[in-house]
Formats: sequence, C-alpha cells, structure tokens
Amino acid sequence: MKTTTITATIAALFAQLAFAAPVDNLDARAFDEMERRAASAPVERGFTETTVEERASNWVTNGPAPPMAMDVASTWATLARYQSCVRAGYAWSCADCNLLGGSSKNTVLMTGGDDGATPVHYVVNNGSHLIIGIRGTNSNDPASLANDVNFVLVTPSETYYPGIKAAGGMVHAGFYGATTRVAASLAPTVQAAVQGGTTNVIVLGHSLGGAVGQMLGVYLTSLLGSSATVYVRTFAPARVGNPAWADYVDATMGERSQHMVNFNDPVPHLPPLAWGFRHSGNEVFLDKLGSLDPLVCSGQENSHCADKYEEPLNWLASIVQYVDSEVHMGPYVGVTLRGNC
Ligand SMILES: *[C@@H]1O[C@H](CO)[C@@H](O)[C@H](O)[C@H]1NC(C)=O
Repeated sequence: MKTTTITATIAALFAQLAFAAPVDNLDARAFDEMERRAASAPVERGFTETTVEERASNWVTNGPAPPMAMDVASTWATLARYQSCVRAGYAWSCADCNLLGGSSKNTVLMTGGDDGATPVHYVVNNGSHLIIGIRGTNSNDPASLANDVNFVLVTPSETYYPGIKAAGGMVHAGFYGATTRVAASLAPTVQAAVQGGTTNVIVLGHSLGGAVGQMLGVYLTSLLGSSATVYVRTFAPARVGNPAWADYVDATMGERSQHMVNFNDPVPHLPPLAWGFRHSGNEVFLDKLGSLDPLVCSGQENSHCADKYEEPLNWLASIVQYVDSEVHMGPYVGVTLRGNC
C-alpha cells in the first residue's frame, strides 16, 4: 500500500474514532460498584502505585497478567472521571464532575488548548494532588488531525529529556509538537502549585491526549526533579515512540507511568509496531468490555494483554475490523469518557 493511502486511511480512522457520539447513559452503577468493592477491600491506601510485590508470585516477564488490587482499580475509575471532565473549566457543573465533588472540592488552576493543534487541557487541585487532563483528537479540526498523521520519528529536545540523544530515543513528530505546546501552556501553573506545596502530580490523557500525557509526564519528572512526584495514567494512548523511547520512559518513571487499554480498541495499536513504534511497559488491560477487574501486564507489549488484538502482518485490516468507537471511549472500570462533559 502506498504511504499516501495509508496516511489517508489512518486519518479517516482517527476521524471516525476521536469524538464518537457521547454515550448518554453513564454507567453510574458500575462506578458505584467499583467504589463499593474498594470500600470493602482489606487495605485502604488511597492513591498508590501497584508494586511488583503486589503482583502474583509466579509472575514471569511478559507472562499472563494478574488482576490489579481493587483499591488501585477504584482510583483508576476516579481518574477516568477526571479525564472525562477536561472541559471542566468551561462546564464544571456536569454530572460526572459533580460526582468528584465539583467545585467545592476541586480548584481548576488553569485551562488551555484550542482543540486544534493544541489539545484541550486543564490543571485541577483536588486538595492534595494536581491532576492534569489532556483531551484526544478533535476530528473536526484539520490541525488536530495533523498531529495524528505526522508520524515521522524525531529526536526530541535534550532540554525536555536529558540523555535522550545518547539513548537513541525518538518520538512521533505530531504528538511531540502537541506536547511542547501543552507543556508551555501549563508548566508555569504546575511549577507554582508545586512550590506552593502540592507535590503529587497525576498526568492523565486519552487517545492522542494519552500519548501527549506520557511525554508531558516524563518532561515534568525532569523539570520538577525532587520537588514533586509525577504519575502518568493514560487511557487508550497511541504509541509514542521507538523502542529506545519506551525504555527511556520505563527507566525514568517505572511503574509511575501506566496506560490503560480497553479490550480490542484499535487506537493503542497505532502507529503499528512494524513502523518502529513501541509502547513502554506497565499496561493495564481490560480484557472484556465493561470489565471492573483490570489486569496488570508485565513487560512492554505483553502478548497476553492488548497485543492479543495486534496482527502485525495485517494490522490495518485488524484495526478496521475492530473499529468500535464505544470501546475507545470506555467504559474504563465503569466510567465512559465523554467528550463534551
Ligand atoms: C486527590 O486525588 C487522588 C487520586 O484520585 C486521591 O488519591 C486523593 O485522595 C485525592 N485528594 C483528596 C483530598 O481527596
């Protein structure tokens, strides 16, 4: 297939996927069930990382994925809701956001982006954590789509990623460009809030915004240094860079960077492995639609997790087959992401 045809096909694919029709019936019961299960979980730990020790003892590299601890899974559901509320700066009053305590509990420190070349984003202080949300592609805007299809690999700046040249790390040019714009927009707010004493930072993102979220989280990790702890929790991210980039992310952030993939969603399989892209480790996989029991996947590109749906030799056909916008929007442990919340 000619590159131009592939480009056009991918653009069409993203256009179909990006802003799917919002789901009207938020599955509040599933979210409640998550909270109920978490409340009856034996240990209450709040926001924590899963650790290797918490995983099954017979865990082997790239082996079958054990389920995540329930309270950690419940935190993912809460974070999905924050991701769903990225438009909070414009409409914090929507139902999903009120379930997070609305404006009485959360302070929106800034909003930015234009839904075009720069994805819409916000920074919220929930009383103990800074939560950064980054929206996905706006398929109505050519500048937003251009971010997706500019999949040339480039070496990002040493200023953002110390040592990246020597490591050989390269990233998707379009996602990188979007990251630098989002970073310039929100970094001053984040730095001021960290200096003010809020030292836990959680970077969220969905789809294109998930790819941007990972790059932003790694950047903030070096920018903020020892003054803050940065976590990345993304939903359905596209692949960000080459294998050396994936290793750089794992070396810099380890389990503080995790990405959730819903069942057979095609977007996390873009761009394909065969084009030299690779996900970092710490995938969290929902093995069926509506699952409330996320699995913790070891290694990078674990063949027992989302890669079950990757068909390297016929990836485009497999993706087209699995195009289902509802899968891309969720539900993520009971929470469906809603573009216009
Ligand atoms: C802020 O959000 C994090 C992540 O969901 C949570 O662990 C923490 O308890 C929240 N802080 C407050 C004050 O509710």
